[in-house]
Amino acid sequence: MSNEMSKNLRELFVDQFHLCKLKPTETVAIISEIGKKNDYVDAAAESARSLGAAALVLTASSLSNPVLPPYDNGDGREIPALLAAAAECDLVVDVTVGGLIHSDVRTRITGAGKRMLFVAEPADVLERLIGTEGLRASAEDGARRLKAGRKLHVTSEAGTDFTADISGADLPITQQWGFVDQPGRWDHWPSGFIACFPRDLSAEGKIVLQPGDVLLPWQRYVRDEVTLRIKNGFIEDISGPGTDAFVLRDYFESWKDPNVFAVSHVGWGFHPAARWSAFEVYEARTLFGQELRSTAGNFMWSTGSNRFANRHTPAHLDIPMRGCTIEIDGQPVVIAGRLEKR
Ligand SMILES: [Fe+2]
Repeated sequence: MSNEMSKNLRELFVDQFHLCKLKPTETVAIISEIGKKNDYVDAAAESARSLGAAALVLTASSLSNPVLPPYDNGDGREIPALLAAAAECDLVVDVTVGGLIHSDVRTRITGAGKRMLFVAEPADVLERLIGTEGLRASAEDGARRLKAGRKLHVTSEAGTDFTADISGADLPITQQWGFVDQPGRWDHWPSGFIACFPRDLSAEGKIVLQPGDVLLPWQRYVRDEVTLRIKNGFIEDISGPGTDAFVLRDYFESWKDPNVFAVSHVGWGFHPAARWSAFEVYEARTLFGQELRSTAGNFMWSTGSNRFANRHTPAHLDIPMRGCTIEIDGQPVVIAGRLEKR
């Protein structure tokens, strides 16, 4: 226990803007939704001002990001105006509820050289897991290994045996360490993980979920063993003795879209302060789940959306798993759920 008082959102945004190397000559854009997360909007704007930067709040009437079908993309009419305004700014802070994570909006803002940061977690989580240079170093090390690799192989005592082709210098890699101090960079505060999008249609094998693994954004632990068989990059079969296999199958089928069965990104977490217990310690639905995505030594894989394969669907599960071994061309990066010591 520490005697230090925890920081408020405004103080945390000041720390974050220092990490992002915000300059007094720069302008921060804050993208938000009407009536949502007003405390984040105010804190971001006031912190930027206190550092001498300008702050512009861009509030859309709706950028809703539904989790269940039917998915209606008709809300996008405000986006061209949003992009035009964001293009005049240097640092874009996204405090929308769902986050513009898989959207074209993100690609276009970062493509224009702007740095963009999504913020969703409660203040306590933002403070405890705020980015560090150490996290950046872990991400960059992971990226080097993924880039140099050809084959990713994941196994577990529970029966997971999964491979994916990660060859090629143009392999899309997401390095997340929780702050953005380089032009064109996107991140989510807080984060500590690395992921790549394998060659499309190359994922093969079997993934066996165990109780205690995590389903995001369902914000809960897996309860029953589930076996997912994957062929040519797509989940072909979901089986298991308990409710979870049934519920996952029902969720995937509900979209009536083959894209939701695709394997999306694969990677691992390395945040030393991220805890698996977060969904029990906090009210799970108040969290975005970054802590579980970032647990050190997890194998995190995902389904559905993959903008690099032109696969657009709002159906996207991130699934951090415990106790897996991850090898790149036979060299382990994670051994039975623990980061390999280097
Ligand atoms: Fe994801």
